[in-house]
Amino acid sequence: MLLLTSCALAVTLARLGATASTFAGSTSTFQFPQPMPLSLRPILSSQTLNRSALQDQLQVAGDEAGSIATAPAVAKVEQAFPLVQPNTSDNKESSFNVIDHWGNLSPFKSVASFGLPNASAVIPAGYTLQQVQLLHRHGARYPTSGSGPADFATELHAAAQGVGFNATGPLEFLNIWTYKLGAEILTPFGREQLFNLGVGFRVKYGQLLKGFSDLPVWRTTSEERMVDSAYVAAIGQNLNITDAGLACISQQAFSVFRAILPDYHQLIEIEADGFNSTLAPYEICPNANNNISSFGSVQSQKWIQLYLAPAQERLSPFIEGFNLTIADIYNMQTLCPYETVALGYSVFCDLFTEEEWKGFEYSLDLAFWYSNGPGNPATSALGRGWVEELVSRLTQERITSFGSSVNETIVSNDVTFPLNQPIFVDASHDTVITAIITAMNFTSIAANGPLPTDHIPDNQTYIVTQLAPFGSNLVGQVLSKDGSTNPTHIRWILNDGVVPLTGINGCAEDPNGLCDLPTFIAGMKQRIQEIDFDFDCFANYTIPDPDTITDGQFPQ
Ligand SMILES: *[C@@H]1O[C@H](CO)[C@@H](O)[C@H](O)[C@H]1NC(C)=O
Ligand SMILES: *[C@@H]1O[C@H](CO)[C@@H](O)[C@H](O)[C@H]1NC(C)=O
Ligand SMILES: *[C@@H]1O[C@H](CO)[C@@H](O)[C@H](O)[C@H]1NC(C)=O
Ligand SMILES: *[C@@H]1O[C@H](CO)[C@@H](O)[C@H](O)[C@H]1NC(C)=O
Ligand SMILES: *[C@@H]1O[C@H](CO)[C@@H](O)[C@H](O)[C@H]1NC(C)=O
Ligand SMILES: *[C@@H]1O[C@H](CO)[C@@H](O)[C@H](O)[C@H]1NC(C)=O
Ligand SMILES: *[C@@H]1O[C@H](CO)[C@@H](O)[C@H](O)[C@H]1NC(C)=O
Ligand SMILES: *[C@@H]1O[C@H](CO)[C@@H](O)[C@H](O)[C@H]1NC(C)=O
Ligand SMILES: *[C@@H]1O[C@H](CO)[C@@H](O)[C@H](O)[C@H]1NC(C)=O
Ligand SMILES: *[C@@H]1O[C@H](CO)[C@@H](O)[C@H](O)[C@H]1NC(C)=O
Ligand SMILES: *[C@@H]1O[C@H](CO)[C@@H](O)[C@H](O)[C@H]1NC(C)=O
Ligand SMILES: *[C@@H]1O[C@H](CO)[C@@H](O)[C@H](O)[C@H]1NC(C)=O
Repeated sequence: MLLLTSCALAVTLARLGATASTFAGSTSTFQFPQPMPLSLRPILSSQTLNRSALQDQLQVAGDEAGSIATAPAVAKVEQAFPLVQPNTSDNKESSFNVIDHWGNLSPFKSVASFGLPNASAVIPAGYTLQQVQLLHRHGARYPTSGSGPADFATELHAAAQGVGFNATGPLEFLNIWTYKLGAEILTPFGREQLFNLGVGFRVKYGQLLKGFSDLPVWRTTSEERMVDSAYVAAIGQNLNITDAGLACISQQAFSVFRAILPDYHQLIEIEADGFNSTLAPYEICPNANNNISSFGSVQSQKWIQLYLAPAQERLSPFIEGFNLTIADIYNMQTLCPYETVALGYSVFCDLFTEEEWKGFEYSLDLAFWYSNGPGNPATSALGRGWVEELVSRLTQERITSFGSSVNETIVSNDVTFPLNQPIFVDASHDTVITAIITAMNFTSIAANGPLPTDHIPDNQTYIVTQLAPFGSNLVGQVLSKDGSTNPTHIRWILNDGVVPLTGINGCAEDPNGLCDLPTFIAGMKQRIQEIDFDFDCFANYTIPDPDTITDGQFPQ
């Protein structure tokens, strides 16, 4: 830090015409090695890579980057290469990008702001970064098993095998269309997303790696897409880089890579029915797996019936021998994001108007609000376990009482749950991220209150595209006010947008989203107390009046 400050000073002086400082151009950060002769040996790609055959080249790692503190601005994620931007059927505004309206099926792009227009993720002047918490989702995946798009394909195929159908006009492609999607695992684009997330994280926060005295322990869960996401993100961070290119494209090379990654430990928590894991808390919460948790689709269905009625009327004349139901139309619309993130482009996208894409996005906002967000009585309970772990990490005190999804075996020792890391990385799911931000009382995101099912409100703030897209990431920056060696403040950055913390008792309004660390911790402890895990997850209740619930808890 001291060196960087002096460098900035040196630049200022140089502009004023002063002479360069004595250290300008110095290479003293590293032992500058003697150049060695480069020996080139052919390596057949079919052979296992022999690393020692690569050793006698000049190899110099540079210093760690830390652009979150050294750059004046943060690089934004604005593209989703190599996805092709589709059109809408009405082609109204060229500025309208269909890809930005897919809710949790959208690829992550930087959010400008969550109500703090002047805040940036760059460390505010006068503060020093001490620690960072990263909670991220997996990258783009194929549909989960048994979801709508495959049902549509099955029905269409049955019709083709039976009486047959004739599609014309915009639907003509259905005559020869086939279903090409897999299930559950990451798509190639999804791997790229997590690789890029890792690269971005290392460039922004790499300086903190210098503070590790042991190898980092980072966590994910046991689903294949979760393990793959965690590893690809690590590869993106240049942690044992040599095989990274291979790892991103070849499953086989990837599994080789898994075995040799020595720069950090990956903890893989079991994600399965009945197992405690704060990264998959629904596995021990019955009300996250019954008709209480499916309330979101009940609410979403009401809206879907309305906004897709014109599409049903418009498209039905173009297919004979197959009755297009609203459910079919919604599945066709859902095929657009899934085909795009898997195949790079989808002809289904162009079937729908701009209005209908806004409707689609809102259907996912409704689904999340009422199933995994502020409008579901079991949501805060699901997020509570991770908040308990967060408090443990921030206070350096171990959890001693167990009454949520926290896994006592995991959190009770330094091997699986070290408390003193400068960087914490946890990989999880969209619905867990939305549960955690509800449990943390990020109330500005829920400020517009319960979502209506018959129209999109003008002041809609609960936008899942911004909260939990593929590759989404929640970053907690633990900071010290200059002069202090201990952390004094914290703030939270969701998908690059700084989140106001004013919903948390005691956190004052702050243009940079900062809250005093002790106040924040006290607020989180209060949230842990006020969330009744046993009742909200286990009690047999019916969903209360949806207008009465905005904090993800059963009303007291
Ligand atoms: C790997 O290469 C080194 C140096 O060329 C050689 O000494 C060693 O025997 C090789 N190991 C294997 C397993 O081929
Ligand atoms: C979208 O429409 C524009 C103008 O009609 C056209 O130039 C462009 O090729 C279309 N893009 C796709 C992906 O179909
Ligand atoms: C943002 O900055 C502008 C210009 O300095 C100022 O006018 C505005 O009030 C600020 N907005 C907020 C919400 O702080
Ligand atoms: C499809 O079109 C052909 C030729 O026009 C016609 O013979 C057939 O009955 C149609 N099939 C259906 C299912 O509409
Ligand atoms: C990568 O892993 C290999 C094998 O364990 C190790 O020898 C090498 O030093 C590691 N590379 C880096 C950059 O840490
Ligand atoms: C805690 O987690 C470990 C590792 O995932 C698992 O083996 C153990 O069964 C879990 N304990 C409970 C009570 O779920
Ligand atoms: C479509 O619906 C109409 C009217 O509801 C019905 O008569 C017809 O048999 C249905 N066609 C198919 C292919 O299901
Ligand atoms: C697992 O979670 C339950 C709460 O659902 C808790 O009572 C139990 O102590 C936890 N077990 C472990 C080993 O963490
Ligand atoms: C949003 O609009 C609704 C009416 O459409 C109103 O009841 C509510 O108070 C508004 N919320 C905010 C935060 O402005
Ligand atoms: C969380 O927000 C609610 C308002 O939605 C408020 O009543 C409660 O006191 C807050 N809890 C904490 C700990 O900040
Ligand atoms: C929940 O309560 C209702 C009525 O109070 C009852 O019919 C139902 O069987 C109960 N369900 C469970 C899982 O206990
Ligand atoms: C869930 O189903 C049970 C029985 O099937 C019923 O008693 C209960 O009211 C339902 N709950 C909700 C939230 O719809």
